[in-house]
Amino acid sequence: MGMNGVFVSFTAAWFLLVCHGPYVRPDVFEKFDLEAVHVDVDLDRAFHRVNERFLSVAIDASLVAEEKFMYLLASPKLKTLSSALSPGFLRFGGTKQDFMEFNPYSYHQHRRNSHRYLGDMCKRLELPPALEESLRKEWTLQALLLQQEERKGKYRKVRFTEYAVDLLYSFANCTGLDLIFGLNALLRTSANSWNSQNAQMLLDYCESRQYNMSWELGNEPNSYQKKAGVQVDGYQLGQDFVHLRRILSESKLYQFSGLYGPDVSQPRDHRRDLLEGFLENAAEAINACTWHHYYVNGRDTSLEDFLDPDVLDTLATKTYEVLETVAAASPRKRVWLGETSSAYGGGALGLSDTFAAGFMWLDKLGLGAKLGLDVVIRQVLIGSGTYHLVDDNLDPLPDYWLSVLYKRLVGPEVLRASVLSALKPRRRLRMYCHCTNKKSTSYKRGAVTLFALNLGKSTAEISLPAYLANSTAEAFVLQAPEPGEQGLLSRSVKLNGVVLKMVDERTLPELRGVHHHAGVPLSLPGFSFAFYVMTEAQASAC
Ligand SMILES: *[C@@H]1O[C@H](CO)[C@@H](O)[C@H](O)[C@H]1NC(C)=O
Ligand SMILES: *[C@@H]1O[C@H](CO)[C@@H](O)[C@H](O)[C@H]1NC(C)=O
Ligand SMILES: *[C@@H]1O[C@H](CO)[C@@H](O)[C@H](O)[C@H]1NC(C)=O
Repeated sequence: MGMNGVFVSFTAAWFLLVCHGPYVRPDVFEKFDLEAVHVDVDLDRAFHRVNERFLSVAIDASLVAEEKFMYLLASPKLKTLSSALSPGFLRFGGTKQDFMEFNPYSYHQHRRNSHRYLGDMCKRLELPPALEESLRKEWTLQALLLQQEERKGKYRKVRFTEYAVDLLYSFANCTGLDLIFGLNALLRTSANSWNSQNAQMLLDYCESRQYNMSWELGNEPNSYQKKAGVQVDGYQLGQDFVHLRRILSESKLYQFSGLYGPDVSQPRDHRRDLLEGFLENAAEAINACTWHHYYVNGRDTSLEDFLDPDVLDTLATKTYEVLETVAAASPRKRVWLGETSSAYGGGALGLSDTFAAGFMWLDKLGLGAKLGLDVVIRQVLIGSGTYHLVDDNLDPLPDYWLSVLYKRLVGPEVLRASVLSALKPRRRLRMYCHCTNKKSTSYKRGAVTLFALNLGKSTAEISLPAYLANSTAEAFVLQAPEPGEQGLLSRSVKLNGVVLKMVDERTLPELRGVHHHAGVPLSLPGFSFAFYVMTEAQASAC
Protein backbone atom coordinates (compact mmCIF):
# COMPACT_ATOMS: atom_id res chain seq x y z
CA MET A 1 0.00 0.00 0.00
CA GLY A 2 2.94 2.31 0.68
CA MET A 3 1.86 5.54 -0.95
CA ASN A 4 -1.77 4.61 -0.73
CA GLY A 5 -2.22 5.24 2.93
CA VAL A 6 -2.98 8.22 4.95
CA PHE A 7 -0.76 8.39 7.92
CA VAL A 8 -0.07 10.85 10.56
CA SER A 9 2.95 11.43 12.66
CA PHE A 10 2.80 13.20 15.90
CA THR A 11 5.43 15.14 17.69
CA ALA A 12 4.88 16.76 21.04
CA ALA A 13 1.88 19.02 20.72
CA TRP A 14 1.96 19.03 16.95
CA PHE A 15 0.73 16.36 14.74
CA LEU A 16 1.27 15.98 11.14
CA LEU A 17 -1.31 14.36 8.98
CA VAL A 18 -0.18 13.14 5.63
CA CYS A 19 -2.86 11.92 3.31
CA HIS A 20 -2.15 9.92 0.22
CA GLY A 21 -4.68 8.68 -2.28
CA PRO A 22 -5.88 5.32 -1.07
CA TYR A 23 -7.38 2.57 -3.19
CA VAL A 24 -7.25 4.57 -6.38
CA ARG A 25 -8.83 2.66 -9.19
CA PRO A 26 -7.03 3.04 -12.53
CA ASP A 27 -10.17 4.42 -14.26
CA VAL A 28 -10.43 7.36 -11.93
CA PHE A 29 -6.75 7.86 -11.29
CA GLU A 30 -6.49 10.90 -13.51
CA LYS A 31 -9.26 12.86 -11.92
CA PHE A 32 -9.87 11.51 -8.50
CA ASP A 33 -6.75 10.40 -6.75
CA LEU A 34 -6.21 12.03 -3.40
CA GLU A 35 -3.02 13.95 -3.31
CA ALA A 36 -0.62 13.80 -0.41
CA VAL A 37 -1.64 16.29 2.20
CA HIS A 38 -0.27 17.11 5.60
CA VAL A 39 -2.40 18.57 8.33
CA ASP A 40 -0.64 20.34 11.14
CA VAL A 41 -2.71 20.97 14.24
CA ASP A 42 -1.45 22.97 17.17
CA LEU A 43 -3.11 21.42 20.22
CA ASP A 44 -1.45 23.83 22.63
CA ARG A 45 -3.19 26.99 21.75
CA ALA A 46 -6.42 28.15 20.18
CA PHE A 47 -5.21 30.77 17.72
CA HIS A 48 -8.62 32.28 17.37
CA ARG A 49 -11.92 32.17 19.20
CA VAL A 50 -15.15 32.68 17.33
CA ASN A 51 -18.47 33.85 18.71
CA GLU A 52 -20.50 31.20 20.53
CA ARG A 53 -23.18 31.99 18.00
CA PHE A 54 -20.76 31.47 15.10
CA LEU A 55 -23.24 29.44 13.09
CA SER A 56 -26.29 31.68 12.84
CA VAL A 57 -29.29 31.84 10.54
CA ALA A 58 -31.39 34.38 8.68
CA ILE A 59 -35.01 34.65 7.76
CA ASP A 60 -35.44 36.76 4.68
CA ALA A 61 -37.59 39.82 5.28
CA SER A 62 -39.68 38.81 2.26
CA LEU A 63 -41.54 36.46 4.60
CA VAL A 64 -43.46 39.51 5.79
CA ALA A 65 -44.47 40.56 2.24
CA GLU A 66 -47.78 39.03 3.17
CA GLU A 67 -48.02 39.19 6.89
CA LYS A 68 -50.02 36.01 7.36
CA PHE A 69 -46.98 33.95 6.40
CA MET A 70 -45.29 35.12 9.56
CA TYR A 71 -47.61 32.66 11.29
CA LEU A 72 -45.44 29.88 9.86
CA LEU A 73 -43.05 30.87 12.64
CA ALA A 74 -45.59 29.54 15.13
CA SER A 75 -45.26 26.03 13.69
CA PRO A 76 -44.24 23.54 16.41
CA LYS A 77 -42.12 21.65 13.89
CA LEU A 78 -40.20 24.73 12.86
CA LYS A 79 -39.69 25.70 16.48
CA THR A 80 -38.35 22.25 17.29
CA LEU A 81 -35.91 22.41 14.39
CA SER A 82 -34.78 25.95 15.19
CA SER A 83 -34.23 25.29 18.88
CA ALA A 84 -31.49 22.83 17.97
CA LEU A 85 -29.60 25.72 16.34
CA SER A 86 -29.38 27.72 19.56
CA PRO A 87 -27.26 29.54 20.60
CA GLY A 88 -27.29 31.62 17.46
CA PHE A 89 -28.41 34.90 15.97
CA LEU A 90 -31.57 35.11 13.94
CA ARG A 91 -31.22 37.87 11.39
CA PHE A 92 -34.42 39.22 9.88
CA GLY A 93 -33.38 41.18 6.83
CA GLY A 94 -32.53 41.07 3.15
CA THR A 95 -33.51 43.08 0.08
CA LYS A 96 -37.10 43.49 1.23
CA GLN A 97 -36.07 45.16 4.48
CA ASP A 98 -35.39 48.39 2.58
CA PHE A 99 -38.93 48.34 1.24
CA MET A 100 -40.69 47.78 4.56
CA GLU A 101 -42.49 50.17 6.85
CA PHE A 102 -43.85 49.59 10.30
CA ASN A 103 -47.55 50.41 10.24
CA PRO A 104 -49.09 49.39 13.54
CA TYR A 105 -52.83 48.94 13.90
CA SER A 106 -53.09 50.35 17.33
CA TYR A 107 -49.79 51.87 18.17
CA HIS A 108 -51.18 54.79 20.09
CA GLN A 109 -53.32 52.55 22.23
CA HIS A 110 -50.38 50.62 23.60
CA ARG A 111 -49.59 51.37 27.12
CA ARG A 112 -45.85 51.69 27.31
CA ASN A 113 -44.07 48.98 29.18
CA SER A 114 -47.04 46.69 29.09
CA HIS A 115 -45.84 43.21 29.96
CA ARG A 116 -49.03 41.59 28.85
CA TYR A 117 -47.52 39.22 26.31
CA LEU A 118 -44.35 38.23 27.98
CA GLY A 119 -43.53 34.95 29.62
CA ASP A 120 -45.81 32.35 28.12
CA MET A 121 -45.75 33.83 24.61
CA CYS A 122 -43.97 30.79 23.37
CA LYS A 123 -46.70 28.36 24.29
CA ARG A 124 -49.56 30.67 23.48
CA LEU A 125 -48.51 31.17 19.91
CA GLU A 126 -48.80 27.79 18.33
CA LEU A 127 -50.05 27.19 14.83
CA PRO A 128 -52.81 24.52 14.72
CA PRO A 129 -52.05 21.67 12.28
CA ALA A 130 -54.88 22.46 9.84
CA LEU A 131 -53.89 26.10 9.61
CA GLU A 132 -50.25 25.15 9.20
CA GLU A 133 -51.09 22.91 6.30
CA SER A 134 -53.14 25.47 4.41
CA LEU A 135 -50.53 28.14 5.07
CA ARG A 136 -47.77 25.88 3.77
CA LYS A 137 -49.73 25.28 0.57
CA GLU A 138 -50.25 28.99 0.04
CA TRP A 139 -46.61 29.63 0.84
CA THR A 140 -45.47 27.50 -2.08
CA LEU A 141 -47.23 29.91 -4.42
CA GLN A 142 -46.04 32.98 -2.51
CA ALA A 143 -42.45 31.73 -2.72
CA LEU A 144 -42.75 31.63 -6.52
CA LEU A 145 -44.11 35.17 -6.63
CA LEU A 146 -41.25 36.39 -4.47
CA GLN A 147 -38.73 34.73 -6.73
CA GLN A 148 -40.30 36.46 -9.74
CA GLU A 149 -40.10 39.80 -7.99
CA GLU A 150 -36.44 39.19 -7.25
CA ARG A 151 -35.75 38.29 -10.87
CA LYS A 152 -37.43 41.45 -12.14
CA GLY A 153 -35.63 43.57 -9.54
CA LYS A 154 -38.77 45.61 -8.88
CA TYR A 155 -39.65 45.58 -5.22
CA ARG A 156 -43.12 46.21 -3.90
CA LYS A 157 -43.36 48.25 -0.72
CA VAL A 158 -44.62 46.37 2.29
CA ARG A 159 -46.26 47.47 5.50
CA PHE A 160 -46.06 45.31 8.57
CA THR A 161 -47.82 45.53 11.88
CA GLU A 162 -47.10 44.69 15.49
CA TYR A 163 -48.36 41.16 14.86
CA ALA A 164 -45.45 40.43 12.56
CA VAL A 165 -43.05 41.77 15.17
CA ASP A 166 -44.70 39.74 17.93
CA LEU A 167 -44.53 36.53 15.90
CA LEU A 168 -40.91 37.12 14.99
CA TYR A 169 -39.81 37.94 18.51
CA SER A 170 -41.79 35.12 20.01
CA PHE A 171 -40.14 32.71 17.58
CA ALA A 172 -36.67 33.94 18.50
CA ASN A 173 -37.48 34.00 22.18
CA CYS A 174 -38.76 30.45 22.36
CA THR A 175 -36.10 28.91 20.15
CA GLY A 176 -33.29 30.62 22.09
CA LEU A 177 -32.05 32.61 19.09
CA ASP A 178 -31.02 36.26 19.43
CA LEU A 179 -33.04 38.43 17.09
CA ILE A 180 -31.34 40.98 14.84
CA PHE A 181 -33.85 43.19 13.07
CA GLY A 182 -32.88 44.89 9.83
CA LEU A 183 -34.25 48.44 9.60
CA ASN A 184 -35.12 50.17 6.35
CA ALA A 185 -32.33 52.55 5.27
CA LEU A 186 -34.14 53.65 2.10
CA LEU A 187 -36.49 55.87 4.07
CA ARG A 188 -34.67 59.11 3.38
CA THR A 189 -35.11 62.83 3.81
CA SER A 190 -34.96 65.33 0.97
CA ALA A 191 -31.34 65.92 1.99
CA ASN A 192 -30.69 62.19 1.44
CA SER A 193 -30.01 61.38 5.06
CA TRP A 194 -31.81 58.54 6.80
CA ASN A 195 -35.30 59.34 7.99
CA SER A 196 -35.51 57.61 11.34
CA GLN A 197 -39.16 58.33 12.11
CA ASN A 198 -40.51 54.92 11.23
CA ALA A 199 -37.66 53.13 12.97
CA GLN A 200 -38.30 55.22 16.08
CA MET A 201 -41.90 54.06 16.10
CA LEU A 202 -40.81 50.42 15.81
CA LEU A 203 -38.19 50.84 18.52
CA ASP A 204 -40.77 52.37 20.83
CA TYR A 205 -43.12 49.49 20.20
CA CYS A 206 -40.42 46.86 20.79
CA GLU A 207 -39.28 48.60 23.92
CA SER A 208 -42.85 48.77 25.21
CA ARG A 209 -42.88 45.00 24.94
CA GLN A 210 -39.41 44.64 26.45
CA TYR A 211 -38.17 42.83 23.36
CA ASN A 212 -34.45 42.32 23.87
CA MET A 213 -32.98 42.43 20.37
CA SER A 214 -30.29 44.01 18.23
CA TRP A 215 -30.30 45.97 14.98
CA GLU A 216 -29.06 46.49 11.46
CA LEU A 217 -29.72 49.34 9.07
CA GLY A 218 -30.01 48.70 5.35
CA ASN A 219 -29.17 45.73 3.18
CA GLU A 220 -26.55 45.77 0.40
CA PRO A 221 -26.43 49.57 0.15
CA ASN A 222 -24.01 49.15 -2.75
CA SER A 223 -26.98 48.32 -4.98
CA TYR A 224 -29.43 51.03 -3.89
CA GLN A 225 -29.01 52.73 -7.24
CA LYS A 226 -30.08 49.62 -9.08
CA LYS A 227 -32.85 48.65 -6.67
CA ALA A 228 -34.34 52.04 -5.95
CA GLY A 229 -32.58 54.72 -7.97
CA VAL A 230 -31.02 56.15 -4.82
CA GLN A 231 -27.33 56.77 -4.31
CA VAL A 232 -25.99 56.48 -0.77
CA ASP A 233 -22.24 56.66 -0.29
CA GLY A 234 -20.19 55.26 2.57
CA TYR A 235 -19.85 58.60 4.29
CA GLN A 236 -23.61 59.21 4.34
CA LEU A 237 -24.38 55.64 5.41
CA GLY A 238 -21.88 56.05 8.24
CA GLN A 239 -23.71 59.20 9.36
CA ASP A 240 -26.97 57.25 9.29
CA PHE A 241 -25.51 54.58 11.57
CA VAL A 242 -24.19 57.19 13.98
CA HIS A 243 -27.69 58.65 14.04
CA LEU A 244 -29.20 55.22 14.80
CA ARG A 245 -26.63 54.59 17.53
CA ARG A 246 -27.63 57.89 19.12
CA ILE A 247 -31.28 56.86 19.09
CA LEU A 248 -30.43 53.49 20.64
CA SER A 249 -28.30 55.09 23.32
CA GLU A 250 -31.30 57.15 24.42
CA SER A 251 -33.33 54.00 25.03
CA LYS A 252 -33.17 52.31 28.38
CA LEU A 253 -33.51 48.86 26.86
CA TYR A 254 -31.37 49.36 23.76
CA GLN A 255 -28.55 51.58 25.01
CA PHE A 256 -26.14 48.63 24.95
CA SER A 257 -27.78 46.61 22.23
CA GLY A 258 -25.90 45.35 19.20
CA LEU A 259 -25.77 47.31 15.95
CA TYR A 260 -24.29 45.57 12.93
CA GLY A 261 -23.58 46.81 9.43
CA PRO A 262 -23.21 47.85 6.65
CA ASP A 263 -24.23 44.49 5.11
CA VAL A 264 -22.38 45.30 1.94
CA SER A 265 -22.02 42.74 -0.88
CA GLN A 266 -18.65 41.11 -1.37
CA PRO A 267 -15.94 43.58 -2.38
CA ARG A 268 -15.82 44.64 -6.01
CA ASP A 269 -15.28 48.09 -7.48
CA HIS A 270 -17.16 50.76 -5.55
CA ARG A 271 -18.25 48.39 -2.80
CA ARG A 272 -14.84 48.66 -1.29
CA ASP A 273 -14.99 52.46 -1.33
CA LEU A 274 -18.38 52.24 0.28
CA LEU A 275 -17.05 50.02 3.05
CA GLU A 276 -14.03 52.26 3.61
CA GLY A 277 -16.10 55.43 3.73
CA PHE A 278 -18.58 53.80 6.03
CA LEU A 279 -15.94 52.59 8.48
CA GLU A 280 -14.22 55.95 8.60
CA ASN A 281 -17.41 57.39 9.99
CA ALA A 282 -19.25 54.63 11.74
CA ALA A 283 -16.73 52.08 13.03
CA GLU A 284 -17.43 53.29 16.56
CA ALA A 285 -21.16 52.95 16.09
CA ILE A 286 -21.14 49.27 15.18
CA ASN A 287 -20.38 46.14 17.19
CA ALA A 288 -19.35 44.15 14.13
CA CYS A 289 -18.78 44.84 10.46
CA THR A 290 -20.99 42.74 8.20
CA TRP A 291 -20.58 41.74 4.58
CA HIS A 292 -22.31 39.21 2.33
CA HIS A 293 -20.87 36.31 0.45
CA TYR A 294 -22.09 33.88 -2.18
CA TYR A 295 -19.79 31.61 -4.17
CA VAL A 296 -21.72 31.55 -7.42
CA ASN A 297 -24.67 32.90 -9.37
CA GLY A 298 -27.64 30.58 -8.84
CA ARG A 299 -28.64 30.78 -12.49
CA ASP A 300 -25.22 29.98 -13.84
CA THR A 301 -23.60 27.18 -11.89
CA SER A 302 -23.21 23.42 -11.78
CA LEU A 303 -22.56 20.45 -9.55
CA GLU A 304 -18.89 20.72 -10.54
CA ASP A 305 -18.73 24.21 -9.00
CA PHE A 306 -20.16 22.87 -5.76
CA LEU A 307 -17.35 20.31 -5.55
CA ASP A 308 -14.55 22.50 -6.83
CA PRO A 309 -11.81 23.39 -4.32
CA ASP A 310 -10.94 26.47 -6.39
CA VAL A 311 -14.48 27.77 -5.99
CA LEU A 312 -14.34 27.06 -2.25
CA ASP A 313 -11.04 28.97 -2.04
CA THR A 314 -12.59 32.14 -3.45
CA LEU A 315 -14.02 32.72 0.02
CA ALA A 316 -10.49 33.18 1.34
CA THR A 317 -9.61 35.82 -1.26
CA LYS A 318 -12.71 37.87 -0.52
CA THR A 319 -12.38 37.45 3.23
CA TYR A 320 -8.78 38.66 3.26
CA GLU A 321 -9.82 41.71 1.30
CA VAL A 322 -12.56 42.60 3.78
CA LEU A 323 -10.47 41.81 6.86
CA GLU A 324 -7.73 44.06 5.54
CA THR A 325 -10.11 46.92 4.86
CA VAL A 326 -11.68 46.61 8.30
CA ALA A 327 -8.35 46.25 10.12
CA ALA A 328 -7.03 49.37 8.42
CA ALA A 329 -10.01 51.45 9.53
CA SER A 330 -10.76 49.85 12.86
CA PRO A 331 -8.31 47.33 14.28
CA ARG A 332 -9.91 44.49 16.26
CA LYS A 333 -13.39 45.25 14.95
CA ARG A 334 -15.11 41.92 14.52
CA VAL A 335 -16.15 40.87 11.06
CA TRP A 336 -19.26 38.86 10.27
CA LEU A 337 -20.63 37.21 7.22
CA GLY A 338 -23.96 38.94 7.75
CA GLU A 339 -25.68 36.99 4.99
CA THR A 340 -24.23 34.07 3.13
CA SER A 341 -25.04 30.96 1.17
CA SER A 342 -23.96 28.90 -1.80
CA ALA A 343 -25.51 30.81 -4.69
CA TYR A 344 -27.11 34.24 -5.01
CA GLY A 345 -30.45 34.89 -6.67
CA GLY A 346 -32.27 32.63 -4.23
CA GLY A 347 -29.89 29.70 -4.58
CA ALA A 348 -29.19 27.31 -7.44
CA LEU A 349 -32.20 25.25 -8.46
CA GLY A 350 -31.61 21.54 -7.84
CA LEU A 351 -28.34 22.18 -6.00
CA SER A 352 -28.60 24.60 -3.07
CA ASP A 353 -31.09 22.42 -1.19
CA THR A 354 -29.32 19.11 -1.83
CA PHE A 355 -26.65 17.03 -0.17
CA ALA A 356 -24.09 18.60 -2.54
CA ALA A 357 -24.63 22.04 -0.95
CA GLY A 358 -23.05 20.70 2.23
CA PHE A 359 -19.55 20.97 0.78
CA MET A 360 -19.85 24.74 0.37
CA TRP A 361 -21.57 25.12 3.74
CA LEU A 362 -19.19 23.04 5.83
CA ASP A 363 -16.14 24.47 4.10
CA LYS A 364 -17.45 28.00 4.71
CA LEU A 365 -17.84 27.21 8.40
CA GLY A 366 -14.36 25.73 8.59
CA LEU A 367 -12.54 28.25 6.46
CA GLY A 368 -14.50 31.24 7.79
CA ALA A 369 -13.53 30.47 11.40
CA LYS A 370 -9.95 29.79 10.42
CA LEU A 371 -9.62 33.09 8.57
CA GLY A 372 -10.94 35.00 11.55
CA LEU A 373 -14.61 35.66 10.88
CA ASP A 374 -16.60 35.91 14.09
CA VAL A 375 -20.11 34.95 12.95
CA VAL A 376 -21.52 33.39 9.78
CA ILE A 377 -25.23 33.98 9.13
CA ARG A 378 -26.74 31.42 6.81
CA GLN A 379 -29.25 32.63 4.24
CA VAL A 380 -31.87 31.20 5.04
CA LEU A 381 -33.52 29.18 7.75
CA ILE A 382 -36.83 29.18 5.90
CA GLY A 383 -37.99 31.23 2.96
CA SER A 384 -38.30 31.38 -0.80
CA GLY A 385 -35.55 30.18 -3.09
CA THR A 386 -33.63 26.94 -2.67
CA TYR A 387 -30.89 27.80 -0.18
CA HIS A 388 -33.10 27.21 2.85
CA LEU A 389 -32.26 24.78 5.66
CA VAL A 390 -35.91 23.84 6.09
CA ASP A 391 -38.04 23.34 2.98
CA ASP A 392 -41.51 24.69 2.10
CA ASN A 393 -43.02 21.65 3.78
CA LEU A 394 -41.10 22.63 6.93
CA ASP A 395 -38.98 19.49 6.64
CA PRO A 396 -35.24 19.69 7.31
CA LEU A 397 -32.81 19.54 4.38
CA PRO A 398 -29.25 18.11 4.40
CA ASP A 399 -27.67 21.45 5.35
CA TYR A 400 -29.96 21.62 8.37
CA TRP A 401 -28.62 18.32 9.73
CA LEU A 402 -25.09 19.41 8.97
CA SER A 403 -25.72 22.63 10.90
CA VAL A 404 -27.09 20.81 13.94
CA LEU A 405 -24.10 18.48 14.06
CA TYR A 406 -21.71 21.39 13.69
CA LYS A 407 -23.50 23.25 16.48
CA ARG A 408 -23.26 20.28 18.84
CA LEU A 409 -19.75 19.10 18.15
CA VAL A 410 -17.70 22.15 17.22
CA GLY A 411 -16.63 24.60 19.91
CA PRO A 412 -15.55 28.22 19.45
CA GLU A 413 -11.79 27.61 19.88
CA VAL A 414 -10.15 27.31 16.48
CA LEU A 415 -6.99 25.23 16.35
CA ARG A 416 -4.37 25.84 13.75
CA ALA A 417 -4.89 23.07 11.26
CA SER A 418 -3.15 23.58 7.99
CA VAL A 419 -3.40 21.23 5.08
CA LEU A 420 -0.20 21.31 3.11
CA SER A 421 -0.17 19.84 -0.30
CA ALA A 422 3.15 19.39 -1.99
CA LEU A 423 2.07 17.79 -5.21
CA LYS A 424 -0.87 19.57 -6.77
CA PRO A 425 -2.64 22.84 -6.33
CA ARG A 426 -6.07 21.20 -6.26
CA ARG A 427 -6.89 19.88 -2.87
CA ARG A 428 -9.71 17.44 -2.63
CA LEU A 429 -9.37 16.66 1.05
CA ARG A 430 -10.02 19.61 3.34
CA MET A 431 -9.78 19.50 7.11
CA TYR A 432 -10.43 21.82 10.01
CA CYS A 433 -10.05 21.43 13.73
CA HIS A 434 -11.67 23.07 16.76
CA CYS A 435 -11.96 22.17 20.40
CA THR A 436 -15.02 20.01 20.90
CA ASN A 437 -18.03 21.99 22.07
CA LYS A 438 -17.97 21.68 25.84
CA LYS A 439 -21.39 23.22 26.37
CA SER A 440 -23.45 20.82 24.30
CA THR A 441 -21.55 17.57 24.74
CA SER A 442 -20.17 15.62 27.67
CA TYR A 443 -16.87 14.61 26.12
CA LYS A 444 -13.76 14.86 28.23
CA ARG A 445 -11.83 18.07 28.54
CA GLY A 446 -9.18 18.28 25.89
CA ALA A 447 -11.30 16.63 23.21
CA VAL A 448 -10.97 18.05 19.72
CA THR A 449 -13.30 17.84 16.75
CA LEU A 450 -11.70 17.33 13.38
CA PHE A 451 -13.98 17.89 10.44
CA ALA A 452 -13.15 16.89 6.95
CA LEU A 453 -14.57 17.10 3.44
CA ASN A 454 -13.69 14.64 0.74
CA LEU A 455 -14.28 16.32 -2.62
CA GLY A 456 -12.89 13.34 -4.49
CA LYS A 457 -14.45 10.11 -5.59
CA SER A 458 -12.23 7.71 -3.63
CA THR A 459 -12.30 6.83 0.01
CA ALA A 460 -9.69 8.58 2.08
CA GLU A 461 -8.11 6.58 4.83
CA ILE A 462 -6.80 8.74 7.58
CA SER A 463 -4.54 6.84 9.90
CA LEU A 464 -3.72 8.72 13.03
CA PRO A 465 -0.40 9.04 14.80
CA ALA A 466 0.31 6.84 17.80
CA TYR A 467 -0.65 9.56 20.21
CA LEU A 468 -4.02 10.28 18.66
CA ALA A 469 -4.53 6.75 17.47
CA ASN A 470 -4.62 5.78 21.12
CA SER A 471 -7.55 8.11 21.56
CA THR A 472 -10.92 6.64 20.86
CA ALA A 473 -12.92 8.66 18.40
CA GLU A 474 -16.53 9.14 17.60
CA ALA A 475 -17.24 9.46 13.93
CA PHE A 476 -20.21 11.28 12.42
CA VAL A 477 -20.01 10.56 8.71
CA LEU A 478 -22.50 12.32 6.44
CA GLN A 479 -23.13 10.76 3.06
CA ALA A 480 -25.57 11.00 0.19
CA PRO A 481 -28.36 8.43 0.51
CA GLU A 482 -27.31 6.70 -2.71
CA PRO A 483 -24.15 6.58 -4.78
CA GLY A 484 -23.51 8.64 -7.88
CA GLU A 485 -24.71 12.02 -9.05
CA GLN A 486 -28.31 11.23 -8.14
CA GLY A 487 -27.26 10.77 -4.54
CA LEU A 488 -25.38 14.06 -4.45
CA LEU A 489 -28.50 15.79 -5.74
CA SER A 490 -30.71 14.21 -3.11
CA ARG A 491 -32.63 16.21 -0.52
CA SER A 492 -31.79 13.79 2.24
CA VAL A 493 -28.62 12.72 3.98
CA LYS A 494 -27.32 9.66 5.81
CA LEU A 495 -25.56 9.87 9.15
CA ASN A 496 -23.38 6.80 9.63
CA GLY A 497 -25.51 4.94 7.13
CA VAL A 498 -28.97 5.93 8.33
CA VAL A 499 -31.15 8.54 6.57
CA LEU A 500 -31.94 11.39 8.99
CA LYS A 501 -35.58 12.19 9.65
CA MET A 502 -37.49 13.84 12.44
CA VAL A 503 -39.09 11.33 14.81
CA ASP A 504 -42.18 13.51 15.01
CA GLU A 505 -42.80 17.23 14.80
CA ARG A 506 -41.47 17.81 18.30
CA THR A 507 -38.59 15.33 18.33
CA LEU A 508 -35.29 15.16 16.52
CA PRO A 509 -33.63 11.78 16.12
CA GLU A 510 -30.67 11.02 18.31
CA LEU A 511 -27.58 12.04 16.38
CA ARG A 512 -25.18 9.36 17.47
CA GLY A 513 -21.61 8.90 16.42
CA VAL A 514 -20.08 5.51 15.80
CA HIS A 515 -17.38 4.45 18.15
CA HIS A 516 -14.06 4.34 16.44
CA HIS A 517 -11.55 1.87 17.79
CA ALA A 518 -8.15 3.13 18.69
CA GLY A 519 -5.49 2.22 16.19
CA VAL A 520 -7.76 1.79 13.17
CA PRO A 521 -7.50 4.40 10.39
CA LEU A 522 -10.37 6.84 9.95
CA SER A 523 -12.07 6.25 6.68
CA LEU A 524 -13.84 9.02 4.79
CA PRO A 525 -15.77 7.83 1.73
CA GLY A 526 -15.62 9.78 -1.53
CA PHE A 527 -17.97 12.77 -1.85
CA SER A 528 -18.80 12.88 1.82
CA PHE A 529 -17.94 14.83 4.94
CA ALA A 530 -17.53 13.97 8.57
CA PHE A 531 -16.92 15.13 12.10
CA TYR A 532 -14.48 13.13 14.22
CA VAL A 533 -14.50 13.79 17.92
CA MET A 534 -11.10 12.75 19.24
CA THR A 535 -12.29 12.15 22.76
CA GLU A 536 -8.89 11.70 24.31
CA ALA A 537 -6.79 14.18 22.38
CA GLN A 538 -5.95 15.92 25.68
CA ALA A 539 -5.36 19.16 23.84
CA SER A 540 -4.19 21.75 26.33
CA ALA A 541 -5.90 24.42 24.22
CA CYS A 542 -9.23 22.81 25.01
C1 LIG B 1 -37.73 35.17 26.44
O1 LIG B 1 -38.54 36.11 27.10
C2 LIG B 1 -38.55 35.97 28.50
C3 LIG B 1 -39.53 36.95 29.06
O2 LIG B 1 -39.16 38.26 28.73
C4 LIG B 1 -37.16 36.20 29.04
O3 LIG B 1 -37.16 36.01 30.43
C5 LIG B 1 -36.20 35.22 28.38
O4 LIG B 1 -34.91 35.50 28.79
C6 LIG B 1 -36.32 35.34 26.88
N1 LIG B 1 -35.48 34.33 26.27
C7 LIG B 1 -34.71 34.59 25.23
C8 LIG B 1 -33.93 33.45 24.73
O5 LIG B 1 -34.65 35.68 24.72
C1 LIG C 1 -30.31 40.77 25.95
O1 LIG C 1 -29.74 39.71 25.23
C2 LIG C 1 -28.35 39.65 25.28
C3 LIG C 1 -27.91 38.55 24.34
O2 LIG C 1 -28.53 37.34 24.63
C4 LIG C 1 -27.92 39.41 26.71
O3 LIG C 1 -26.52 39.36 26.79
C5 LIG C 1 -28.46 40.53 27.58
O4 LIG C 1 -28.15 40.26 28.92
C6 LIG C 1 -29.95 40.67 27.40
N1 LIG C 1 -30.40 41.84 28.10
C7 LIG C 1 -31.48 41.85 28.85
C8 LIG C 1 -31.86 43.18 29.44
O5 LIG C 1 -32.16 40.86 29.07
C1 LIG D 1 -0.31 4.09 22.67
O1 LIG D 1 -0.74 2.84 23.19
C2 LIG D 1 0.29 1.85 23.17
C3 LIG D 1 -0.30 0.52 23.62
O2 LIG D 1 -1.08 0.69 24.78
C4 LIG D 1 1.44 2.30 24.06
O3 LIG D 1 2.49 1.36 24.02
C5 LIG D 1 1.95 3.64 23.56
O4 LIG D 1 2.94 4.13 24.43
C6 LIG D 1 0.83 4.66 23.46
N1 LIG D 1 1.34 5.87 22.82
C7 LIG D 1 1.13 7.08 23.31
C8 LIG D 1 1.78 8.20 22.58
O5 LIG D 1 0.44 7.29 24.29
